[in-house]
Amino acid sequence: MHYDLIVIGSGPGGYFCAIRAAQLGMKVAVVEKERTFGGTCLNIGCIPSKALLHASELYDQAGHLFDRMGIKLGKPRLDLPGMMKFKDAGVDGNVKGVAFLFRKNKIESFEGIGRIAGNGVVEVTSAGKTERLEANAIVIATGSDVARLPGIEIDERRIVSSTGALVLDRVPERLLVIGAGVIGLELGSVWRRLGSEVVVVEFLDRILPGMDNEVCRQFHRLLEKQGMTFRLSSKVAGVAAVDGALQATVAPANGGATQAIGADVVLVAVGRVPYTEGLGLKAAGVNKDNKGRIVVDARFATNVSGIYAIGDVIAGPMLAHKAEEEGIACVERMAGVPGHVNYACIPNVVYTHPELASVGLSEEDARERGIEVRVGTFPFQANGRAKALGEREGQVKLVADAATDRLLGAHIVGARASDMIAELVVAMELGASAEDIARSVHAHPTLPEAVKEAALGVAGRAIHI
Ligand code: FAD
Ligand code: NAI
Repeated sequence: MHYDLIVIGSGPGGYFCAIRAAQLGMKVAVVEKERTFGGTCLNIGCIPSKALLHASELYDQAGHLFDRMGIKLGKPRLDLPGMMKFKDAGVDGNVKGVAFLFRKNKIESFEGIGRIAGNGVVEVTSAGKTERLEANAIVIATGSDVARLPGIEIDERRIVSSTGALVLDRVPERLLVIGAGVIGLELGSVWRRLGSEVVVVEFLDRILPGMDNEVCRQFHRLLEKQGMTFRLSSKVAGVAAVDGALQATVAPANGGATQAIGADVVLVAVGRVPYTEGLGLKAAGVNKDNKGRIVVDARFATNVSGIYAIGDVIAGPMLAHKAEEEGIACVERMAGVPGHVNYACIPNVVYTHPELASVGLSEEDARERGIEVRVGTFPFQANGRAKALGEREGQVKLVADAATDRLLGAHIVGARASDMIAELVVAMELGASAEDIARSVHAHPTLPEAVKEAALGVAGRAIHI
């Protein structure tokens, strides 16, 4: 069977890539080793985690907020299997949606492990049977896997990765999270809202390394107010089973006296690593870097002619929308269409409550690059809609070039920050200035008026503060 393109992996990188290639007239095959399409994101990542974040947020609000809004329901009761069913329905709808799109675009799919077996050849192995496919081009979109800690074995029951943390069958009394990154904070929030006592141990002296410092400090305080406990500049040296529970040995990051912290479940959330197992990259001669990522050029081409790679398996932020854009740009470039990915404008969102969303440079990044900046901030508590919704926590912070007023970065902590960041992504893509945003009419009363006010703030003329 000969194709124009074979895509290995059907996550957001792979399925976007396959659909765009089909739109461009290519004959496309997708190889996926799991039974459902959609990869990490749809099956065990973005979608199930957001379903649980949404349901647990409503549960939390029903317990604390509804009463203040004049809605009397009594104490909400948790039906965890019911909540898991709600989550699974979201996943099911999404993965079936990808299968539908493949059929609609006449993309052929093969279930099994794909291995590159020569120039333009992919062998697909499933249940002991191997099929041989051929193509002019191969795109590797095999994604990433959980990063592990030496000596701490993940059993997905009591010591879990994000995958196990999405399917716990009861609410742990005490949840110890290793890593204050996106997964630790999102899934830590889910289980805190459902009743767990959550302690987060982070190696660095701050949460969410890489995000704007000032905004993260405020975010950190808000999470603490919700009852999460943080042990910064600390590491977990080991986890042992003691009397039917777990005991983690926590040590200062730079060495020193250790302390024992008890837990019923430990979530290991210390990052993800590129996944290339079984692909036969060595035999194919495809180069990887020292972090195991496939090395590609600006066209997503590897060092071997006809083999490309996109998404989590190459360098850059491990985000679904980054993988999607790369999938599209990769095949567009192959087809002679001018596709590109603007890595300076990739939004980053943490879907807790409040949410944290950012794009572009943090204030400290900009200063480190020697750029003189002007900063505009605006608190949610001065925004009319935020007051009406009872969502007063948070702020919008914009970083603009002092010389040109061009927007360099935007950082929002607050309700619906994930929706609000879109305006700023477009603004940055179009090279907008803070003045451009400040002069654009924003509907009233809306939370994005806080963005407009922060933009006015860059020039020192915000109205409501
Ligand atoms: P993947 O989605 O990992 O897909 C790779 C696919 O390749 C898999 O289906 C795998 O089975 C298949 N595969 C691998 N090897 C082979 C082989 N040899 N043969 C055949 N098939 C193979 N990102 C966001 O942007 N927003 C979020 O809210 C978000 N939430 C997340 C929550 C969690 C808990 C996790 C773990 C991740 C989250 N991410 C989120 C990250 C996001 O899931 C990844 O960045 C994204 O899935 C990467 O897409 P990909 O296509 O590169 O790889
Ligand atoms: P991460 O890289 O976001 O965070 C890992 C954290 O663990 C860091 O703060 C790091 O300093 C800390 N750490 C590392 N080793 C440690 C140790 N030994 N002890 C204590 N702390 C340690 O990784 P995370 O949260 O596992 O997420 C993986 C990837 O998935 C991320 O790259 C993220 O982009 C993606 N993701 C995205 C989401 C989103 O966009 N909302 C949601 C969930 C995941």
